[in-house]
Amino acid sequence: MTLLSPQALGRSGLQVAPLSLGTVKLGRNQGVKYPQPFNLPDDRRAQALLDTASELGINLLDTAPAYGESETRLGALLRGQRQRWIVCTKVGESFENGQSRFDFTPTHCRASVERSLRRLRTDVLDIVLIHSDGNDEDILNRWGTLDALQQLKQEGKVRAVGLSHKSAAGGQLAVDAGADVIMATLNRDYLQEQSLITAAAAQGCGVLIKKALASGHADPSDLAKVAGHPGVHSIVIGTTSPEHLRQNAALISAARQPAG
Ligand SMILES: NC(=O)c1ccc[n+]([C@@H]2O[C@H](COP(=O)([O-])OP(=O)(O)OC[C@H]3O[C@@H](n4cnc5c(N)ncnc54)[C@H](OP(=O)(O)O)[C@@H]3O)[C@@H](O)[C@H]2O)c1
Repeated sequence: MTLLSPQALGRSGLQVAPLSLGTVKLGRNQGVKYPQPFNLPDDRRAQALLDTASELGINLLDTAPAYGESETRLGALLRGQRQRWIVCTKVGESFENGQSRFDFTPTHCRASVERSLRRLRTDVLDIVLIHSDGNDEDILNRWGTLDALQQLKQEGKVRAVGLSHKSAAGGQLAVDAGADVIMATLNRDYLQEQSLITAAAAQGCGVLIKKALASGHADPSDLAKVAGHPGVHSIVIGTTSPEHLRQNAALISAARQPAG
């Protein structure tokens, strides 16, 4: 049953449901911060997860080269249903042979986008965010990575661009530099980006939230607060469980109902 209705993701031109699916756990189980070790779901379980997401009205999948096999697996899983999804991926971090590598140069940015297009088996990426290593201001002021993404947008390879940041100051710098979308953090242990989230949305920037459950350390009931925070367009939750997806959708949908 469709529980979630899409709304504008700022001025990006995209319409996104208030819950999105994070896909770290489809592609990577090494060097992650989740409370329990886990096996990657097989293709049958991964497809069932996407089917449940679709049934609930979820329409954004968040992936990244840093999520191991995630992009490649999604490329295969989305065959025949690519048009149904908004695909968000990233540049700047890759994960190969158990190691993260960072490169924010415009040359790498272009090569990374081309690689994501091949892995995801698509002609256009809906959203590409810079995957910050924590040096948000340095990335934006020194490397010109956002300008490189804007150029790829001009060329029609990408629809919307922005930054998945690690600080409120970095997020605001990206908004001021014309980012279409930011990916901010908001959870019970991390409230430092609350003002940024409200201000960014007021400036027309799309706002996605990561780690709303503190990577599995918080209680799902916390989602009501995050979903109700002004400026939050969609909460990206990483799960491999259709039951958790349903529970999260119900919690977020209830929190989004206008008070009667
Ligand atoms: N750009 C970045 O720098 C960055 C960094 C981190 C994350 N992200 C994105 O944001 C997404 C979310 O972040 P995250 O995965 O770190 O953290 P999260 O969404 O806060 O938490 C995910 C964890 O919570 C568990 N969970 C989800 N729903 C649950 C429920 N109803 N009950 C109990 N447990 C539940 C999941 O386990 P189950 O599988 O058992 O449900 C998983 O271990 C990622 O998938 C990724 O797409 C981006």
